[in-house]
Amino acid sequence: MKLSQADFQERRDRLAEQMGPNSIAIIATSPEVMRNRDADYKFRTDSSFFYLTGFAEPEAVAVIETDQTGQDYTYSLFCRERNREMEIWNGYRAGIDGAIDEYEADEAYAIDLLDEEITTKILNKEKLFYRIGQRADFDAKVSTWIRKADQTGRGFGVPAKLIQLDQILDEMRVFKSSKEIELMQIASNISAEAHSRAMQKVRPEMMEYALEAELNYIFGQNGCVPAYNSIVGGGKNACILHYVENNKSLKEGDLVLIDAACEYEYYASDITRTFPVNGKFSPEQKALYQVVLDAQIAAIDAIQLGHSYKEPHNVAVRILVQGLLDLGILQGDIEQIIESEGYRQFYMHGTGHWLGMDVHDVGSYKDENGEWRVYEAGMVVTVEPGLYIAPDDESVDVKWRGIGIRIEDDVVATKNGPLVLTKNVVKSIEDIETLMAQSS
Ligand code: GLY
Ligand code: MN
Ligand code: MN
Repeated sequence: MKLSQADFQERRDRLAEQMGPNSIAIIATSPEVMRNRDADYKFRTDSSFFYLTGFAEPEAVAVIETDQTGQDYTYSLFCRERNREMEIWNGYRAGIDGAIDEYEADEAYAIDLLDEEITTKILNKEKLFYRIGQRADFDAKVSTWIRKADQTGRGFGVPAKLIQLDQILDEMRVFKSSKEIELMQIASNISAEAHSRAMQKVRPEMMEYALEAELNYIFGQNGCVPAYNSIVGGGKNACILHYVENNKSLKEGDLVLIDAACEYEYYASDITRTFPVNGKFSPEQKALYQVVLDAQIAAIDAIQLGHSYKEPHNVAVRILVQGLLDLGILQGDIEQIIESEGYRQFYMHGTGHWLGMDVHDVGSYKDENGEWRVYEAGMVVTVEPGLYIAPDDESVDVKWRGIGIRIEDDVVATKNGPLVLTKNVVKSIEDIETLMAQSS
């Protein structure tokens, strides 16, 4: 499954409609980034740029200009020209003809002509939509073009309003169409398969990176790459929230936390599972794990249309705190602990975030009054409570120390309640132990 040009055009239509008459939007792709001498990171185009164009090459800029009535617009694509020599070395380019024939641009130009052509396009427009603050080098270009338009128009050429493009585009991206959900379902299925494989392949003394390789095998077999740097943390490494070294050996008797997932056709998934390296939870691991799982299941249930964005977090926190009180890890009054956030020593992150083309996807979490927004159909969010008992936390009985647990699923808000995209990978203690016992 892939999106078609009709899908990208429909998005451009909706953007243009919201821009109003006589306006221009400028959307640049990401820069290519050098890793070390002569070796660059594999290019991955900017999500919003791809969202509007379906064009994945580097060095590209899309321009949308609405006409005086606001009823029609012109879509221009600036991209690399075809070049036989460069294509022999570095691969295929769509070129100017491809931009028009394959990507349905109304106008296409060589990227080298951008500075020359864009001033005319900006001149005498009323509004300029641009995502300022993302790339200093491109921001500088935009201000140069505005100055040029000002000089050319003798003081009357500059758009009176500069509008942060995010206002429109990010809000569009918050709501996923059924096709986008389909893509995210595929990404989730592949990621779930990778986690299931990891549960079956893990062995005491295996290196964390070797277990990461088992996930990468499934991603790669499906033509996917990780949507973010994979976290594979054994034992106390699970208490480091963004542990990505993945270079220690996994120990008999420890848990391993894996936060890893792939992106499919530019759509991300985001899964965390925590399981015993030897296939059997210890009594302490079991007790803490069950608290996190109860919190996670209840938080997922709270994703109902009309509920506050924050509700899953509030639900999760209450269950986590009650669990910590029951186990004697926390002492005191539940209301007072929640009120003072006295649990932050063990649970210091939020319970989720928007998910989409970016793993921490765009879109505001609050409305214009500063209130948490409510769930609406088509929003996708992660649900990822955890508990982390630091290895050196002397306020806690030694038997709990160094245990880190997180469980993360991806959930669509729908009129029929929460739809869990990542349900193909087990998470109950019993199901995990059963799957691990069938290890290959
Ligand atoms: N994998 C990043 C996160 O869970 O937010
Ligand atoms: Mn994650
Ligand atoms: Mn996440």
